[in-house]
Amino acid sequence: MEAAATQSSLSSVRADPSTLYPSLDWSRSIIVLGIESTAHTFGVGIASSRKPYILANVRRSYQPLKGGIHPREAASHHVSVSAQVLAEALEKAGVGISEINAIAVALGPGLGPALRVGATIARGLAAYYRKPLVAVNHALAHIEVARFYAGFEDPLVLYVSGGNTMVTAYARGRYRVFGETLDIALGNLLDTFAREVGLAPPYVKEGLHAVDHCALRAREPLLLPYTVKGMDVSYSGLLTAALRAWHRVRGMERHSVCLGLREVAYGAAVEVAERGLMHTRKNALLLTGGVAASPVLQEKAGIMAKLHDRRFAAPPPELAGDNGAMIAWLGLLNYLAGLVVEPEEAVVRQRWRLDMVEAPWR
Ligand code: FE2
Repeated sequence: MEAAATQSSLSSVRADPSTLYPSLDWSRSIIVLGIESTAHTFGVGIASSRKPYILANVRRSYQPLKGGIHPREAASHHVSVSAQVLAEALEKAGVGISEINAIAVALGPGLGPALRVGATIARGLAAYYRKPLVAVNHALAHIEVARFYAGFEDPLVLYVSGGNTMVTAYARGRYRVFGETLDIALGNLLDTFAREVGLAPPYVKEGLHAVDHCALRAREPLLLPYTVKGMDVSYSGLLTAALRAWHRVRGMERHSVCLGLREVAYGAAVEVAERGLMHTRKNALLLTGGVAASPVLQEKAGIMAKLHDRRFAAPPPELAGDNGAMIAWLGLLNYLAGLVVEPEEAVVRQRWRLDMVEAPWR
C-alpha cells in the first residue's frame, strides 16, 4: 500500500530567488517546514532562504489495492506514516524543530479527509512549538516550485496532474486560468484507463505512465475522439471511447488504443498551451504537476515551445509530483511576505481554486 520515499537534492536549482522575488527580503535566514497531504501523498519538505534552498523532501504515497483513491483510506495512510516522514525530513535537513521559523501546510484543493490530516498536524506543531502557521494553496505550490527550479520570470504554465489540467499565467496579483479541463483531469484519464483495463500500477519507471509504456509496442495509433473547445479540453468522452475500443480489440491492437489515447490526451493539452502562449505572448512554457514527469509529454511540449522560439522546462519527478518541498517553498514565500494565519483560521478548503489566491510576492 506504499511507495518508496524520495529525497530531493535539488542541487540543480538554477535560480537566484532574489531576482525571481525581488519584493521579498532575502537577507533574512528563514527555514520553513511544509506539509503536503492533499491526495495520495503525505510529504514533509524543509525550505530555506539560503542555498541549497530545499533541505529535505520526504514523502510516502498511498496506493489503493483496488480502484481509485479512497479518501478515508488515504487519510489513515497519512496518519500512519506522518511521524516517520516528519522525523526523516528533520534528520535529512539536519535541523531541529527549534530552528524552524514557520510551519506551512497545503489546505486545498484536495480530498477532505486527506487534507485534514496535514492541517491537524500543522496546527498541532504550530500551537505546541509556538510557530507561525502559513496556509498554502497546493496548485500554486506546484507552479512556484517549478518556476523557481526553472528560473523563469514569467512563464505560461501547463499544470497537469491527477486532479488538474490547466493553462495559467500570472497577471495583476494572481495566476489567471486561461483554459482547463471541462470534466476529468489528464492524470485521472490515464490512471482510470490503466486501472480499468488492468495496466496498473499507474506509474512504471522513469516517469513513463503505464499508458505510455503500453503505447511503446504500438505500430500506429487508433483514431479516438479529440475534444478541444476554445482554450479548454475535455477528456471524459476520450476515456469512454478508449475503454470501448480496448474491449473490442485483442492482442497487439490494444497497444494501438494506448498510443491513440496518449496522442490525443497529450496533443489536446499541448494545443491549448500553444494557443495560450500565442495569446499571452509569454516567452517561456513551464510544465508542472504529476503528469509533467512524463518524458513523452515533456518532449511534445518542448517541441511546441521550440517551434515558437520559447524556452521550456519541467521540474524533476520529485518536484513534479505532490511533495512537501513545494509546500515548504511557497510557505517560505508567503512567510517572507507576512502571510501567516492563526491556527483556528487554518481550515481546509477542498475547492480552493488557483485563481482565488493572491500572489503578493510576484
Ligand atoms: Fe498535485
